[in-house]
Amino acid sequence: MVSTHPVKVQPSGNQYLSPSQDSTNISPNQQLLPLTARVNRDDFLEIGGCDVTKLVQQFGSPLYILDETTLRTACQQYRDTFKKYYKGESQVLYASKAWNCLAVCAIVASEGLGIDVVSGGELYTALEASVSPEKIYLHGNNKSRDELTLAIESGCTIVVDNWYELHTLVELATKDSAIRIMLRLTPGIECHTHEYIRTGHLDSKFGFDPNDLEEVFAFVSKQPALNCVGVHAHIGSQIFERQPHRDLAAVMVQWLRDAAKYNLELTELNVGGGLGIKYTESDDPPSIEEWSKAICEVVQEACAAENLPLPKLLCEPGRSLIATACVTAYTIGSAKTIPDIRTYVTIDGGMSDNPRPITYQSVYRTVVANKMSAPLTETVTVAGKHCESGDILIKNAPLPKTEPGDVLVVMATGAYNYSMASNYNRLPRPAAVLVANGEANLILQRETYQDIIRQDCLPEKLK
Ligand code: LLP
Repeated sequence: MVSTHPVKVQPSGNQYLSPSQDSTNISPNQQLLPLTARVNRDDFLEIGGCDVTKLVQQFGSPLYILDETTLRTACQQYRDTFKKYYKGESQVLYASKAWNCLAVCAIVASEGLGIDVVSGGELYTALEASVSPEKIYLHGNNKSRDELTLAIESGCTIVVDNWYELHTLVELATKDSAIRIMLRLTPGIECHTHEYIRTGHLDSKFGFDPNDLEEVFAFVSKQPALNCVGVHAHIGSQIFERQPHRDLAAVMVQWLRDAAKYNLELTELNVGGGLGIKYTESDDPPSIEEWSKAICEVVQEACAAENLPLPKLLCEPGRSLIATACVTAYTIGSAKTIPDIRTYVTIDGGMSDNPRPITYQSVYRTVVANKMSAPLTETVTVAGKHCESGDILIKNAPLPKTEPGDVLVVMATGAYNYSMASNYNRLPRPAAVLVANGEANLILQRETYQDIIRQDCLPEKLK
């Protein structure tokens, strides 16, 4: 299969593409790039006004390149759509498991978003980034006492997942002030996504079983130490349909009504995250506005039907806020052609900086930053450098003819790449830069070999 020269396409396709952005001259692959992506006169890729090949010269590779404009635009779209379509109060939270680090927390918080954290480490990072505790929500299906204590002391909201946690919180509570909690319930809603990232069906490790609903409400209503403010649910990730979230929002309003029977006045409703993104030209997710509007409408209709006051409406997207804002730049090294079978082109990273292909069989698209309009004459398999045959980033990638030293860019790597990165084979984790207006700022330093052995201990007897 040999592809031709990049095809000219009509604008749109990119979930965040603004109508003014002229994309008539970019290929479908290039539509998956961040909003500020441009091809300069040398035919090189620029993001945030920075030449990607120069970024690699300066910061090394692999390199995560995060486009500030794309991230801020997505934050604003969520925030403003909820404001526009929802008549009550709303708060968008960033699900920071997608990419939690000081700079990302600081950017999303500066756009008015709150933050969802799922561990003491994520909570600590958000606090260090000066995110206001009133806008931090702690999740997790097995929070430790230390994590709960940090959450209580910092004053964030705890999203309680199960009976064990409820009882632990009652034990940990002091007389000074009630602990602010929400309850996570399993809604029993199916959606079409990879089995590992589905959470709303009944057979899920997360959340209270809906059959326990009344018992949980009855228990919580009798605990003065717990200030229960609302309900939470999350049905899964990388979802393209709108109906499951509509169904979810309607079910959750019924929970608010049920809670009222126990004199629990719940004022917050959090529908979780899950909106999918475009990893390939054939992916067709709803826009942020379409998804958010659908949720606002259902909650308003259901509350009107039940004669309930509008709750504060929360959602917590991760992937759709940050995935498209980032690309990973690699340097191409060796290649191996097996006649009549395939050509492997190897890059200087792989499953340690992007474990999604090997974990979920995720599909990515790529461009060569220093050959942006060269004809796509080759079909190759992009392999990582790890000692594992499964370490393949992209199968059958249409590429121009490449040579060692070319800079290969994998698109839409902002979500669940750095956050799931490992040191497998003792590879140092890559650096990350934030680019905007021609300026690049380091937001994560590249690990060194000293970092790699930082936690190693050599007992005296082995020296
Ligand atoms: N809220 C809760 C409670 C969640 O568990 C998640 C994701 C989110 C929000 C954000 O979902 P998003 O908007 O990003 O779809 N590592 C997997 C994804 C795991 C998602 C875990 N929970 C991947 O790489 O696809």
